[in-house]
Amino acid sequence: MEKKNIDWGNLGFAYMETDKRFVSNFKGGAWDEGALISDANVTMSECACVLQYAQTCFEGLKAYTTEDGHIVTFRPDLNAERMEASAKRLEMPVFPKERFIDAVVQVVAANEAYVPPFGSGATLYLRPYMYGKNAVIGVKPADEFEFRVFCTPVGPYFKGGVKPLTIRVSDFDRAAPNGTGHIKAGLNYAMSLYAIMSAHREGFDENMYLDPKTRTKVEETGGANFLFVTKDNKVVTPKSGSILPSITRRSLVHVAKEYLGLEVEEREVFFDEVKDFAECGLCGTAAVISPVGKIVDHEIGRAHV
Ligand code: PLP
Ligand code: COI
Repeated sequence: MEKKNIDWGNLGFAYMETDKRFVSNFKGGAWDEGALISDANVTMSECACVLQYAQTCFEGLKAYTTEDGHIVTFRPDLNAERMEASAKRLEMPVFPKERFIDAVVQVVAANEAYVPPFGSGATLYLRPYMYGKNAVIGVKPADEFEFRVFCTPVGPYFKGGVKPLTIRVSDFDRAAPNGTGHIKAGLNYAMSLYAIMSAHREGFDENMYLDPKTRTKVEETGGANFLFVTKDNKVVTPKSGSILPSITRRSLVHVAKEYLGLEVEEREVFFDEVKDFAECGLCGTAAVISPVGKIVDHEIGRAHV
């Protein structure tokens, strides 16, 4: 398969239209069989539920070329399961797991020319998502939905690749207790846009969100979970009902425990403890594993390195 003429090594984390995407529609209580299509645009009612009430959830996963030339994706079954949880919480129909995985495989195969070569540092990012499509004016769920998977080749999420990040403790909260922080709802990201832009304006790469109720415990960033390492080599990661259960984090915890024989603590992590950890990193599909160099608690004026 001839690859596209793309400067793989210089890709950022940005959208590039590729050849095919998978689309399936839910109408009259059932998903249709779906198809790969060429049209990258969506047409819908001006009053679509997604436009009025943000009824949408999404996933993110990557396809990679292995050294021996195979193309693999990373644990798509877990993305399917997480999307099921998101859909249920947002009153949307579940797109069945086997069909989710099949759609991912179809999209990767149809866009093989865009899968970055091994060693290029780039990957093919897949974005499955679902949204309420029909017109809704009273506050209620849609009854027609679209499930779509598109893909785009990407480079590093953080500018400059793997270099230690500087993050700040956010004054804004990400997810309420008993809210939607544990699912991948579009609304969680809409509310983070002001916070991330103001962080950037102040020279920070990301926000560290604390638990909104007590503002004493570390939750996560806008798009990644935290991993810490103690001075005696234990891995510590925050446990909370309002953070997204990162598939990367769950995989790393498994590797740390089962392959590296490290002790792992998944527990509440108080911000006061952060200064005593030896290392801090962010993990996620887009974020990969990104080291944190500095955390600034601007309200109190403390800086933790
Ligand atoms: N936390 C948030 C808020 C995210 O958006 C993501 C990205 O999906 C993650 C964590 C990391 O999750 P995963 O490792 O499944 O990509
Ligand atoms: C991902 O890592 O797939 C995400 O959805 C995070 C987002 C910040 C791009």
